[in-house]
Amino acid sequence: MEDSNIDIRADIPLLENVIYLDAASTTPTPKPVVNAMCDYFNNYNSNTGRGAYRIAVKSTNEFEGARSKISKFIGCKPSEIIFTKNTTEAINLVANGLNFKKGDSIIVPNIEHHSNFIPWLNLKKKGIDLNIINADKYGVIDSADVEAAVDNNTKLITTTHISNAIGSVQPINEIAKIADENNILYHIDAAQSAGHIMFDVKKIKADFVSFPGHKGLFGPVGTGFLYCDEKSVEKLKPMNLGGGTVTNVIGGSFEFEDVPARFEGGTQNIAGVIGLGAAVDYLKNIGIDKVEKHSKKLTSQLFQEINSIDNTIIYGNPENIYGIVSFNIDGVNAHDIAKILDELKNICVRSGHHCAIPAIRHMGSYELGGSVRTSVHYYNTSEEIQIFGETLREISKFFGD
Ligand SMILES: Cc1ncc(COP(=O)(O)O)c(C=O)c1O
Repeated sequence: MEDSNIDIRADIPLLENVIYLDAASTTPTPKPVVNAMCDYFNNYNSNTGRGAYRIAVKSTNEFEGARSKISKFIGCKPSEIIFTKNTTEAINLVANGLNFKKGDSIIVPNIEHHSNFIPWLNLKKKGIDLNIINADKYGVIDSADVEAAVDNNTKLITTTHISNAIGSVQPINEIAKIADENNILYHIDAAQSAGHIMFDVKKIKADFVSFPGHKGLFGPVGTGFLYCDEKSVEKLKPMNLGGGTVTNVIGGSFEFEDVPARFEGGTQNIAGVIGLGAAVDYLKNIGIDKVEKHSKKLTSQLFQEINSIDNTIIYGNPENIYGIVSFNIDGVNAHDIAKILDELKNICVRSGHHCAIPAIRHMGSYELGGSVRTSVHYYNTSEEIQIFGETLREISKFFGD
C-alpha cells in the first residue's frame, strides 16, 4: 500500500473512526468518486441520450465514457455492459430475460448468495428444473460434479466466483470450459471478486457476469452492471421497456434500440455511473495487482489471528479463501460477537446468514445465527487486523470462562 501514489486512507474519511472489515457488504466511497458525482450534480445535472443542449450532451458523454472505462477494465466492448442498480438486478435480468422452457434445467451450487439462488429457484414455477450441486466441506464446488450434473436438458450453469459466506474461490475457468464444450450458457456472480482480483471476462469465457459497482470496484451504492457476451445477447429479452429502449413506434408496433440501450429503460443512475467510472480510474491508479497482493496478505493474517484463538471455528480452506474469513466462536451467537467488536473497538464486521442461508446450513452455523464475517480491501491495514485479533481474543476468553 505504501508505494502507491494514492493515499486511500485520506480519501476515505470514515476510516478515521472505525475499523471497517465489511467490504463484502459494500465499500466506503473514496473522495474522487464522490467528487465526480458532485461535479455532475453541481455543474451538468441533466438527462442522458435525450437533450441536444450542451450540458445534456456532456451528461451523455460522461455516462458513456464511464461505460467505456468499465468495459476496458473487464476486457469487453462497451456495448456488452448493461447498467443495473446492483448485482441482484443483473442476475434477475438473466434469469427472467432468457427464454427457458418447461423441462429445461439449470445447474446451481448450494452455497450461493440468495441473489444467485432465488431468481433461479423462482423459475421452478414455470416447470424449469434446478439441479443443485453440493460444495465440499470447505465450500468449494468440484468441477467434476458440475460436469456430472450436465444432461441434455441443461441450458445454463450459474455459480459465484467467490462465496460471500465462506470466502471460498470457485473453479470458474474449469466450469466455463465444461459449459463451452456442452454448448450451455454460463453465468458468473462476480459480486465478491470484481475489483479485488483481476477479472477478464473474455479470458474466462462466460456468457453473462453480474457485477456490483458498490463493492470491490469502489463505486457508489445503487450501481451495478451485467456483462453480456455479444454472442449471447440476442437470447436475452429486455425486461424494462419504455423511454430509451426503442428506435421507432409505428401504429401498434415498435423496434428495439441496439444493445445495450434496449435494456436500459428510463432515466438511469447517471451520477452513480459517472461515479463508478471515476472509481475504475481510481482502482487502475492503485493497480489491481497491488490490491491482490495486499488483500492476500490481510486474508492470511486474519485467518491466522482467528485460528490462533482456541474456541473458534473457521469456514473455508486457508489455501483457497480470498478477501473473506468467516467464523464462529463455539456456542456463541454471531450477532453478539459483532456487537461487542463494535462497542469495544469500533470494529465493523457482518454477522448472520449473509443472505446465503443454504451456505450457512452447509457450514453448520445456522443455529448460531449464522457466522461472523470479516472482509477486507485495499484500505485495510495490518495494524487493524492485529487490533481485531486482540479484541476477538479478549471476547473469546469471556465466553470461554
Ligand atoms: C456473492 C453475492 N452475490 C450477490 C450479491 C448481491 O449484491 P447486490 O447487493 O449488489 O445486489 C452479494 C451481496 O453481498 C453477494 O455477496
